[in-house]
Amino acid sequence: MKRSAPIGIFDSGMGGLSVWLRVRQLMPNESIVYLADGKNCPYGDRTPHEIASLTKSAVEELLSRGVKIVVVACNTATAMAIDMLRESFDVEFVGMEPAVKPAALSSQSGVIGIVATHAALSGELFRATSAKYADRVKILSAVGEGFVEIVEQGEEHSPEASKVVADAIEPMLSSGADRIVLGCTHYPFLMGAIESVVGERKVEIIDPAPAVARRVEWLLERDGLRAEPDHKADYEFLSFADEEYRQRVEQRAKHLVGE
Ligand code: DGL
Repeated sequence: MKRSAPIGIFDSGMGGLSVWLRVRQLMPNESIVYLADGKNCPYGDRTPHEIASLTKSAVEELLSRGVKIVVVACNTATAMAIDMLRESFDVEFVGMEPAVKPAALSSQSGVIGIVATHAALSGELFRATSAKYADRVKILSAVGEGFVEIVEQGEEHSPEASKVVADAIEPMLSSGADRIVLGCTHYPFLMGAIESVVGERKVEIIDPAPAVARRVEWLLERDGLRAEPDHKADYEFLSFADEEYRQRVEQRAKHLVGE
């Protein structure tokens, strides 16, 4: 495997760009191929079998582009497919873990909230992670109903966005949660709406994307796969949806880095 090979990042749609951004910021000399399924999004209400099968196809597409590591920048796909992927392919995978640990260890109130898709919350990964901290904190969970669709449509600043975010988050805040874990990579795009709901309350919103980027860097260093410091990064965007969607993904990524 060449050190100059790209990092592959996959999500059901545009949400994984929140991870793409952190990977790019941390390792500006690394090329990245980002694959947004787009055609089958959202994944969150699909069956485990469908999610695993869609994720496998996406990984095959990334591997055919010669990526040196795969970031499953989707909590839902990670929850339903990461074990199968590790068994099926001879490449390192980095998935999205629900960031229950940092929330549980830092909470002052003893109550934390996690918001994620239906599939991610029903998966074994969330159950096992929560079980580890259940004697330390009370863990509340909520499905981000409509969150993914709103982000896909670029409607994060609409009144509808404020409403769905309040519906999911306010009950957890009212029950005393002082940490809200974002358990879906689309949700950081709703940060503005989430912060408005939180208001003056002392609540920390936890996005695992920076930790995921550090994990990618650590694995590449370990395996001698970091690009040369002067390597000129190239960014490619792919989708299973149409060209118009692919271009929207690319535009959004450019917007994130101020281009
Ligand atoms: N970004 C995906 C996640 O992290 C969204 C899932 C979906 O498509 O419903 O879970």
